[in-house]
Amino acid sequence: MKKPVRKAVFPVAGLGTRFLPQTKTMPKEMLPLVDKPLIQYAVEEARAAGIEEFVFVTSRGKDVLEDHFDQHPELYDTLEEKGKKESLAAVQAADIPSGHLYFTRQHQPLGLGHAIWCARHVIGDEPFAILLPDDVVLNGVPCLKQMMEVYNEIGGNVVAVTEVPREHTNRYGILDVANDDGRLAKMKGVVEKPAPDKAPSTLSIIGRYIVQPQVLDFLEQKVVGAGGEIQLTDALQKMIAAGQDFHGYRYQGTRYDCGDKLGFLMANVAFGLERSDLGTNLRSELKKLLG
Ligand code: UTP
Repeated sequence: MKKPVRKAVFPVAGLGTRFLPQTKTMPKEMLPLVDKPLIQYAVEEARAAGIEEFVFVTSRGKDVLEDHFDQHPELYDTLEEKGKKESLAAVQAADIPSGHLYFTRQHQPLGLGHAIWCARHVIGDEPFAILLPDDVVLNGVPCLKQMMEVYNEIGGNVVAVTEVPREHTNRYGILDVANDDGRLAKMKGVVEKPAPDKAPSTLSIIGRYIVQPQVLDFLEQKVVGAGGEIQLTDALQKMIAAGQDFHGYRYQGTRYDCGDKLGFLMANVAFGLERSDLGTNLRSELKKLLG
């Protein structure tokens, strides 16, 4: 029987060097997509997928992330008094009920795998989701909800994947595929940031995972991999080698890498165009801008 996925880990302890100087004092995960921080998109996506427990892996200087998900009674009262119902609903959308939000610290940015390991005591012995907030997927049905449906069908471990140009394989975790029906690719391996001529495919993992808790045992070994970091991908590869079932799921939607300047700008335009209150005006302003 498949154990339900109730917990999600949000690793938010990275340095965000690609976004300096903005990220010198402000966490990358607080960058706004139109009018909401990236982290809130990730939390709302997790909630829509049925996640009940939210685990943030933070680091120095990330307190503002904790505050964003705290209640703010003075603000609520003021908005209420002024009759600003929509604004009130918008801020309250970030609320997570007491006792369901956990923070654990990663003292040094030793890599994504290490960040996930820092959440081990909160995760315990159950499958869990991982969402990297700088990867945002624009789609009617949120990406993690799609993955949950797949997990409920086939169980095991499910990662969200997309095709990338071969010259970009050295930026991502790349699948070694056993067989592929065009929607689900059964994995026989995965390798972090392979050179284009060594990459076993061009199917890359984006920042959405559903994994079994055994991943924490492999992360415990703290093996340093690509870029001198403890890589999540390396632990996934060991799980596959140990016989765990892994599938790459081709999600529906468009993914934006908001940890990258161009990706972030593209996401703001795409999300802005989708908005009923902004889309029409933004479209005509963009047309003017582009001549
Ligand atoms: P990135 O690979 O984007 O790294 O991390 P980064 O440090 O945030 O950004 P750059 O590359 O220096 O610009 C992907 C996710 O993993 C988290 C990040 O916060 C981000 O959500 N992460 C990464 C950690 O929590 N700890 C780490 O040691 C590394």
